[in-house]
Amino acid sequence: MDLFDSDKVNFDLLKSRAFNLRWAELPDDVIPLTAADPDFQSAPEISEAIIDYCKGQYFSYGPSEGLIELKKSIASFFILKRNVPVKSDFVLPIDSTAFGIYLTCKTFLNNGDEAIIFDPVDFLFRYSIEKIGAKAIPFSIPPDTKKVDFQKLEHLITNKTKLICLCNPINPTGKVFTRDELLMLGSIAVKYNLIILSDEIWSDIVYHPAKFVSIASINEEIRNKTITVTGFSKSFGMAGLRIGVIIAHNEQHYNNILDYSMHKYTIHGANILSQIGAIAALEKCDYWLAGFVKHTKKMRDLLVREINAIPNLSCIAPDGCYVAFINIERTNKSSQEVYEILLNEAKVAVVPGLEKWFGKGAEGYIRICFSTSETILLESISRIKKCLI
Ligand SMILES: Cc1ncc(COP(=O)(O)O)c(C=O)c1O
Repeated sequence: MDLFDSDKVNFDLLKSRAFNLRWAELPDDVIPLTAADPDFQSAPEISEAIIDYCKGQYFSYGPSEGLIELKKSIASFFILKRNVPVKSDFVLPIDSTAFGIYLTCKTFLNNGDEAIIFDPVDFLFRYSIEKIGAKAIPFSIPPDTKKVDFQKLEHLITNKTKLICLCNPINPTGKVFTRDELLMLGSIAVKYNLIILSDEIWSDIVYHPAKFVSIASINEEIRNKTITVTGFSKSFGMAGLRIGVIIAHNEQHYNNILDYSMHKYTIHGANILSQIGAIAALEKCDYWLAGFVKHTKKMRDLLVREINAIPNLSCIAPDGCYVAFINIERTNKSSQEVYEILLNEAKVAVVPGLEKWFGKGAEGYIRICFSTSETILLESISRIKKCLI
């Protein structure tokens, strides 16, 4: 029995629970390969831990800086699996990785400052920067880039630049950065006294032989400039629990982040049940994650092979993430047009490469999420093949 067999997808529950452009928001005959969220149930240990907690029937305020056990679990994870000497005192559980991006921007950027983001990359970076009144400066990393020359990024730095947003692996291209690339990026941050916001939410979803390196593991100087942000939505299917963490690597950064978080005043804070679920995920669910990554790798290989057999489409196998960024330029249609054809004719929903989702560099591409079952993926591919694009 495999947890990721096709018969493990519970359509009835997905139809009522999976929002954000997915099953619950689309007509019954449409397959959503949109938001990057697994179609499989999460590990049973996560719900068991939450149920056990609920049985105590107290839902009092938790510690404003998060449950000590979760802070310690995160610190051990980073020490053992990421080679980063994290102090549990500097780990702040928060109510999502998305909030971690925003909170880091809020803490380190002022109105009129500039922050460098990749292009293409998830919209959360630009959105957070602009909400604060700062300016997002795109650094192009086209989907077929093997080795990024970060020296070129130096040309974008001005006296207003305060922050570099590193998304590793990159959603939507799946690029995983090498140690050399990260060293180059980190050295620039040190040279110009910039903060690195390292979003590592996808760091568990990396396919052999690619290897994830956390930028904070490179050296102390770079670590001191880094704020690490991560979460549980991608690795453990816990998006609806809205739980993530921010990790500072020195006391001053931690205190500044904590102050801006407003946790001390109970205006924000990580839900206690979500923290309990996150502890269970970290402590008990390695087996589930290993099985899940094995499955998504199989789905990646299947999807990339089939897409490359369609005359007008092409796709490079992503080294990380469970999304494929598919080149549609040979269709001579815009990504919005291809999105509409696929939605209306193939009844498959994808994410078009629009500036609002991923930046200007995404045009000419659509994004397909493949954290679904083999049956659903094969059905989607067969529908895409039959429609004329
Ligand atoms: C790069 C990146 N960061 C953050 C998030 C949001 O994560 P969370 O659900 O923890 O807010 C996503 C979700 O797609 C993402 O791709």
